[in-house]
Amino acid sequence: MRKPIIAGNWKMYKTHLEAEDLVKALKEKKLPAGVEVVLCPPFTALATVAQALAGTEIGLGAQDLFWEEEGAYTGEVSPLMLKALGCAYVIIGHSERRQYFGETDETVNKKVKAALRHGLKPIICVGESLAQREAGETDQFVAGQVEKALAGLAPEEIPQVVIAYEPIWAIGTGRSSSGVDANQVIGLLRRTIAREISEDLAQEVRIQYGGSVKPENIKEFMTLPEIDGALVGGASLKADSFYGIIA
Ligand code: 13P
Repeated sequence: MRKPIIAGNWKMYKTHLEAEDLVKALKEKKLPAGVEVVLCPPFTALATVAQALAGTEIGLGAQDLFWEEEGAYTGEVSPLMLKALGCAYVIIGHSERRQYFGETDETVNKKVKAALRHGLKPIICVGESLAQREAGETDQFVAGQVEKALAGLAPEEIPQVVIAYEPIWAIGTGRSSSGVDANQVIGLLRRTIAREISEDLAQEVRIQYGGSVKPENIKEFMTLPEIDGALVGGASLKADSFYGIIA
């Protein structure tokens, strides 16, 4: 049985002071059993959020990393640094990084390997643009993204991986995918992993949906068999709406 995982991607929102307030508000709520919750604040708030989360069941994740351990790489953050702060997860290959910061399938693959080498679980983001969807290219494109992200991984590393299917046209637009469509694409991604790696391991990988997830539509996704949780942007920035999704 795959345990559902609800992760909040705060993107470039919240100073470390604002982050502390949000965690305080979340801690006042009782988390239901049977769901894993992860917060992914900006780098500058990781230490504060780690401290605020101490003693809770909520996990910590970063939004990116660089694949080297240390060196002359101005502005970058290494897996060792994230690990030392208590991160368990790291988002890799978000479409915003692919679109604005030159992330490619090759750099995603290097980052996934670096994360796993250091005991960080990657949340690998894939998803098609509106033009690709309208051209009927979704399946081929997202399956290719997953294949390239996982290339060269050892079989025992596969269960550590989380994948987030985030159609680009659904991110921050208020226009989510339908549950049925997301379930279909996520099923295809699982079959891709089964074909490339193994059926058993494919059954262990958690695959989330992301894109305009809110308390009002989370049920539509979570009642479908292939969908193992959500990667939440905007609605993770307020305790009430994020908790509404978790609950
Ligand atoms: P929204 O939930 O704001 O659409 O963002 C989704 C996302 O990009 C999460 O990584």
